Amino acid sequence: MGGARAADSCLPPTPIPRYARDDMLRLARTIEETRAAIRGPRAAGRTVGLVPTMGFLHEGHLSLIRVAREHGADFVAVSIFVNPLQFAPHEDFQRYPRDEEHDRKLLEREGVDLLFLPSIDVMYPPNATTRVTVTGVAEALEGERRPGHFTGVATVVSKLFNIVQPELAVFGRKDAQQCAVIERMVRDLDIPIRLVFGETIREHDGLAMSSRNSYLMREQRALAPVLHRALRAGEDAIKHGIDRVESIEKLMHKMVAETAGVEVDYLVVVDPLTFRTPADFHRDLLVAGAVHIGKTRLIDNIRVAKNAIPHAHV
Ligand code: PAF
Repeated sequence: MGGARAADSCLPPTPIPRYARDDMLRLARTIEETRAAIRGPRAAGRTVGLVPTMGFLHEGHLSLIRVAREHGADFVAVSIFVNPLQFAPHEDFQRYPRDEEHDRKLLEREGVDLLFLPSIDVMYPPNATTRVTVTGVAEALEGERRPGHFTGVATVVSKLFNIVQPELAVFGRKDAQQCAVIERMVRDLDIPIRLVFGETIREHDGLAMSSRNSYLMREQRALAPVLHRALRAGEDAIKHGIDRVESIEKLMHKMVAETAGVEVDYLVVVDPLTFRTPADFHRDLLVAGAVHIGKTRLIDNIRVAKNAIPHAHV
């Protein structure tokens, strides 16, 4: 359209970003609608990128959409589905924040092409009993504390991959173990999708953006950045040559223990491939943590590259 108007006025056509070729956000609520919406763009040679989310979108999600484009997606689909399968009965499925209208506005503004917004029945018809379980990496840390969580994630993500069949899919590194689990699943099941992981987007005080931050009351919100500060202290210790896991974990615990109202679930140094205690410090490491503030559970992590670790054999 922009090109035609420019031609009428004898001006050179205004280049239109590929992703904005039609600037309408299409909404699909069923699998058939989703596949139909993607058929045309795929036949036209466009590269489909998928950003799976549970909605209540924030800057972190929007950054993943941009990452999809930077990695070559010129048709971006976003899914919003609060997946009951990844919540234990005592967890926050019911109260998980939802705001469909606001999410749609944000996605429109971001130039997203397709929003897949299925109901629970669409994703899990009553007779569906198949689950995807990743072993190994999914069993440590979050897997230990949230039994069944990663089976819920792997099941819904593999369904989304089959429904959309994107060339690439983007996930946020804030959920580092989720990224590792999905990477394992894609390798083990030979799923022909390129995975891209986007960096964690933070508030001005370091708190990792998360839809769950909206649970925090003002006083709780003020306490929350201690998680990131503790992880930063762990990262600094590693970079300054401390190579005893217990010392680093103790240091991080001490920082959080000083903040009344914040309870540590875990603060650990792990191998980002296994999410278990690293065999040594001659490898990339991850400092990861989970804390409870009132009823809200927050997680975060920082990756420490091998080449930033003194004496690591590079
Ligand atoms: O990270 C999330 O928001 C969810 O775990 C995901 C990947 C959308 C699966 O429900």
